[in-house]
Amino acid sequence: MFKPFISANWKMNKNLEETVDFIKAFLPLTAGINDVDILIAPPFTSLSAAAGLLKGTNVKLGAQNVFYEEKGAFTGEISPAMLLSAGCTHVILGHSERRQYFHESDEIVNRKLKTARKNGLEVILCVGESLKEREDNKTFEVLDRQLSGSLGDGNLEGVTIAYEPIWAIGTGRTATKEQANEAHTFIRGWLKKHKEGAETVRILYGGSVTPENIASLMSEPEVNGGLVGGASLKPDSFAGIVTGARK
Ligand code: PGA
Repeated sequence: MFKPFISANWKMNKNLEETVDFIKAFLPLTAGINDVDILIAPPFTSLSAAAGLLKGTNVKLGAQNVFYEEKGAFTGEISPAMLLSAGCTHVILGHSERRQYFHESDEIVNRKLKTARKNGLEVILCVGESLKEREDNKTFEVLDRQLSGSLGDGNLEGVTIAYEPIWAIGTGRTATKEQANEAHTFIRGWLKKHKEGAETVRILYGGSVTPENIASLMSEPEVNGGLVGGASLKPDSFAGIVTGARK
């Protein structure tokens, strides 16, 4: 059985002060919970301050993006080593918003994943279909393409997969637990077919996760945790998701 993994994805929300306020309120709500892995992923500008507050606690720190080169003339980009020195252990890659608004292809995601892993960052790799693709019965085809392109010839060590159907992100329209489990089962099967060590990879569900629906989603055998956007922005709501994920 997998230890549940609940990650916040704050996206472009919270300045420094708001980050500090959140963490100060959140830590007491989840103190002593060690049967769930908890991660928050604030914007870059909040990482260092967050790391200071999270040190020695049960909450880990991740970034929402990283560049695929190690250093050099890449104005505006952030390297894996910078994230490590800011206190991150994880990075989220391949989020649909990055794919859509910043034109990140599977090839770019793969390059980022390789550099992140080489530097020792753990990766949460996001995959998921659009509404049109689901309606056209192309969900598995899309997942196959994204998994194979993003993972490339890399191994699964230090990788968590997040299944995030785009139509469920920020829409309040959660996938049913059966839809989530069906996609996760496909992903597990794909990993087993193509990679070593697929049994140990956690597969998170993302898309309108709330304190109200997390327990039901987690009751499915292949749902090993959640990647949470909107409902991770308030300490009590995110804490409710963490406690609801305990199996
Ligand atoms: P949401 O976002 O929980 O607001 O739907 C999830 C995500 O995009 O990771």
